[in-house]
Amino acid sequence: MYRQVYKLAICILVPAAILVPQIRGQAQPRDAQAQLWWQHAVFYELYPRSFADSNNDGIGDLNGITAKLDYLKDLGVDAIWITPCFPSPQVDFGYDISDYENIDPMYGSLGDFDHLLAEANHRGIRIVLDFVANHTSNQHKWFQDSKSSRTAAHRNWYIWRDGKGASQPPNNWISTFGTSAWTFDPTTQQYYYHYFYPEQPDLNWRNPAVENAMFNVTRFWYKRGVAGFRLDAVDSLFEDPNLTDNPFAPGTDTFGRRNMDEKYNQKLPEVHGVLRGLRKVADEYHAVLIGETYTSSMDELKHYYGDHSSELQLPMDMMFATVDKLSPAEFRKQIASVNASGGWPVFLIGNHDMARSYNRYGDGIHDDAIAKLMAALYLSLRGSPILYYGEEIGMQNNDPKSKEEVRDPQGKIGWPTEKGRDGERTPMQWTAGVNGGFSKGKPWLPVPPSSATHNVETESTDPDSILNFYKRLLFLRHHEKALLDGEYIPLDESNPNVLSFLRRSPGETVLVVLNMSGTDQEVVFDLAPYGLAAAKRAMLLTSGRAASHRGVINLDPYSAYFEKLTN
Ligand code: GLC
Repeated sequence: MYRQVYKLAICILVPAAILVPQIRGQAQPRDAQAQLWWQHAVFYELYPRSFADSNNDGIGDLNGITAKLDYLKDLGVDAIWITPCFPSPQVDFGYDISDYENIDPMYGSLGDFDHLLAEANHRGIRIVLDFVANHTSNQHKWFQDSKSSRTAAHRNWYIWRDGKGASQPPNNWISTFGTSAWTFDPTTQQYYYHYFYPEQPDLNWRNPAVENAMFNVTRFWYKRGVAGFRLDAVDSLFEDPNLTDNPFAPGTDTFGRRNMDEKYNQKLPEVHGVLRGLRKVADEYHAVLIGETYTSSMDELKHYYGDHSSELQLPMDMMFATVDKLSPAEFRKQIASVNASGGWPVFLIGNHDMARSYNRYGDGIHDDAIAKLMAALYLSLRGSPILYYGEEIGMQNNDPKSKEEVRDPQGKIGWPTEKGRDGERTPMQWTAGVNGGFSKGKPWLPVPPSSATHNVETESTDPDSILNFYKRLLFLRHHEKALLDGEYIPLDESNPNVLSFLRRSPGETVLVVLNMSGTDQEVVFDLAPYGLAAAKRAMLLTSGRAASHRGVINLDPYSAYFEKLTN
């Protein structure tokens, strides 16, 4: 049955392009359903070093991405978020930027970027870039000037302070990457602050010149046709000007240091003023702002939307992203609270900073089934999903086997307890061939053996593959009005094994049933309270052996079932 649905999908796909009549210049922010474009968009995070290598130097590049746009279109992607591809010494693999208004030669040129943008737009795909606002590279000309003397024009663009005493940093703050947060500079005999690596000095956002220069960076890219930004590390933008010591918290971190309650250098209220300013600029271009928002409560997350949606349109719900167990109760709780926040939710299950979802949710036996189940969850909720490249083919984590192999400095500093993030950043697996078809050169990170089975080419020909399940699901998502805009109605909320819900829009409802357990399950729903007792029911999609007979739904372990209900 699902094969028929899929065939039908291909027939209807062509008119879908009409939904995005004009992208460049963002003159049409709303689609045919009068919805803001980003509310209907499926986002795809792509790590440019690892996506596709067009010149076979072992590192991905922009022309590689351009060559894969048809793949992304066919998958059902509406917007790609490219992690930093700007000039950078690559200490933090692009998150240390030395020029905000150019492309690193290892990825290509501004001309290649414009070509990528034009080709993407031609296919109705928008491009979102990464905005690293908290810090620059220590090689950026602003920092080079800043460190040259205490009276340099850019001195106050960064955070410089005297030490507390001989060889004593100004306070007890620590870098999240395992070092002190302060580095002494012998030239000017002061310390500079860096929440990340010493090569990533923090900008001083209390200086209006910094704000002005950084806001102009976003304008530079909007004018080129970029549709928005993912805002990196927004929580870290401000620090207490008195540099008050942070209190310690119980336990130790992965680097073996005492935990800290970072109340004086994280999530300061001033962050929201900057977000409102960035939003004003974004609104001039109908652009979207996505936030890297590591919140610990719904109140915090709500704050990032801003009053009357004046800050981020799409702050990521990282609490959902890190549930890390197949727990219907936990997911119900997260979904209900993000829905209650009043903003448009953003769901993801993986990114370039966390171990791959395939490993975090997999049990080692039913991994492929679980990968489909997780897709069925986050791609059918009310909100905008962000896929992480390779998730759609079931890419596994491939952690370094020894300290010598580690590329991410976080892993070098923290080995062996902290292995760093190389494992989730390995090259995209395109074929079963050498290096997963990513490059003819030696890839910058090794391709794992699982590429023999989990790759685009092999999975494209297998109707039961994770990739084909993603495609069918994304097709449904784009074409079932209830999945796009329908409200979320949880069902059977005390069931400890099966997560079920309705997505309901006027006249059309989709029922989603997900068996999160390793045993067979049977469920029956009383749909009368929703006016659906006499609805016509038609199966839309299944994974595993889920099936329904006269309203009784049977699910084998980790299977998913989708049904359309029409009155
Ligand atoms: C964000 C990025 C991460 C990077 C850090 C410093 O957390 O996602 O990859 O290392 O910021 O820029």
